[in-house]
Amino acid sequence: AISANAHENDFLHCLSSFHSKDTSPISKVIYTPNNSSYSSVLESSIQNLRFSEPTTPKPLIIITPKHTSHIQASIHCSRKHGFQIRIRSGGHDFEGLSYVSHVPFIIVDLVNFRSVDIDDKNKVAWIQSGAILGEFYYGIAQKSRTLAFPAGVCHTVGIGGYFSGGGYGLLFRKYGLAVDNIIDALFIDVNGRILDRESMGEDLFWAIRGGGGGSFGIVLAWKVKLVSVPATVTVFRISRTLEQNATKLVHRWQYVAHKLPDDMFSAVTMRRVNSSQDGKRTILASFSSFFLGGIDELIPLMQERFPELGLVKEDCTEMSWIESILYFGQIQNKSLDILLDRSYKTTLNGPSFKTKSDYVKKPIPETALEEIWSKLYEEDAESAVIGFIAYGGKMDEITESATPFPHRAGNLYKIVYTVGWQQEDNIKSRRYITWIRKLYSFMNSFVSKSPRQAYINYRDNDIGVNNKGNTSYVQARIWGRKYFKNNFDKLVQVKTIIDPENFFKHEQSIPPLLS
Ligand code: FDA
Repeated sequence: AISANAHENDFLHCLSSFHSKDTSPISKVIYTPNNSSYSSVLESSIQNLRFSEPTTPKPLIIITPKHTSHIQASIHCSRKHGFQIRIRSGGHDFEGLSYVSHVPFIIVDLVNFRSVDIDDKNKVAWIQSGAILGEFYYGIAQKSRTLAFPAGVCHTVGIGGYFSGGGYGLLFRKYGLAVDNIIDALFIDVNGRILDRESMGEDLFWAIRGGGGGSFGIVLAWKVKLVSVPATVTVFRISRTLEQNATKLVHRWQYVAHKLPDDMFSAVTMRRVNSSQDGKRTILASFSSFFLGGIDELIPLMQERFPELGLVKEDCTEMSWIESILYFGQIQNKSLDILLDRSYKTTLNGPSFKTKSDYVKKPIPETALEEIWSKLYEEDAESAVIGFIAYGGKMDEITESATPFPHRAGNLYKIVYTVGWQQEDNIKSRRYITWIRKLYSFMNSFVSKSPRQAYINYRDNDIGVNNKGNTSYVQARIWGRKYFKNNFDKLVQVKTIIDPENFFKHEQSIPPLLS
């Protein structure tokens, strides 16, 4: 690179002279800012345009490794020359941590590590981290329509980040999280060693299944168990306004949803709309469900458990599991090939967004729901949505320490708050972020406490970040306990052993005790 300074040139030289038996030269997968593809490679998987501003710090180099030796070289040379590595799989991190850093950094983008190997006979699969959920699902559907994997509906999410933080989806009340179904992994540590489950040991294997991405090393691939689903599943989405009793229905939902059979996924989203009748503003509550069975079984079940909703046959559609992914991903009437489209823009309510999460242990009173509606009426909530996702089922059966993800029994549901906007409007964006922070503080008395729990894969830097320079345990514990509860200390122990000098770090990475 012509304009790269001497330091960067030394770094590039280090990369190209790294000893390797591979035939493919690393120079082919290095992008410096002088390279005409640099911007398109950088932007290719950025999901939150909040972190794609001209002022956003950019990587010195992007590497899209094709061989493990390219990754080993990246780690070796970054350590030697004092650059930080940001690891990117699908680029969906809510705070952009996989592609933005405030110190000189490079991106190791795993886009070329995306093979999917489905063994339908033995109901297992190996998937590389750079694959997206859609590529994995597509691979399963090619082999069988009655095999599935419990992961999310947004098909562009990367396997690497998603598996690193837990990963929930339509099947989580039946089969748990993605991490509950991982049985092996391939991992590169800070010394470039390639480890599998056996050689890494059970503690590190525990930590990478939910302890959050970017803390321990680079996970190359994962082996998972596939799960069985019936050939026919049923989905529905029913929307009700305040005039149609939405408040009472949402209130009631809190009592019924977490007790529904584990064959069901149930969620409700609330947003402000203008009524189609009189044009006046109202709240629209949309109840959506996924059921592992047919309509004829679902209707009597809902009539027994939640008659107030008034579900009828006409509200429901039968389909295959793979079609339900498109249905919930809101990409119906497209061929399954869409699942392979990494550039498909699935946004959380806007190209730029801010999201926060909460866990609820006891139902929120109706009066408080009404106060939430009044917050949604505020001007700065024009593109806000609040979602409640029912817990219970299999999630109640798995102990809090089985994986780093601790939000198991005792949670009625999770809340996700999102506000989105067009990136070009900076003044508005500040107002939207202020709005969502105020809503979050209003919710304090209705949600989990000490710690106020949060979902690591809904990364939220507001709940605390590491101090700059030396990451302190005490500082990290503030956000760490919210994501991991008592599992935080074990994550710190694992980190202290596998990466004692804290090479793999970011704003919310697990600190080693000695640093
Ligand atoms: P990205 O590449 O940004 O990585 C996220 C973090 O993991 C970063 O810190 C990164 O450095 C690290 N990392 C990535 N690859 C790694 C690797 N191979 N080894 C080690 N560290 C690695 N979640 C959910 O549970 N259920 C859902 O349904 C959804 N739906 C959803 C929709 C949309 C539109 C978005 C934007 C996000 C979600 N999520 C979600 C959240 C999602 O699980 C979360 O953002 C994941 O971390 C994204 O993984 P990516 O690989 O795409 O992210």
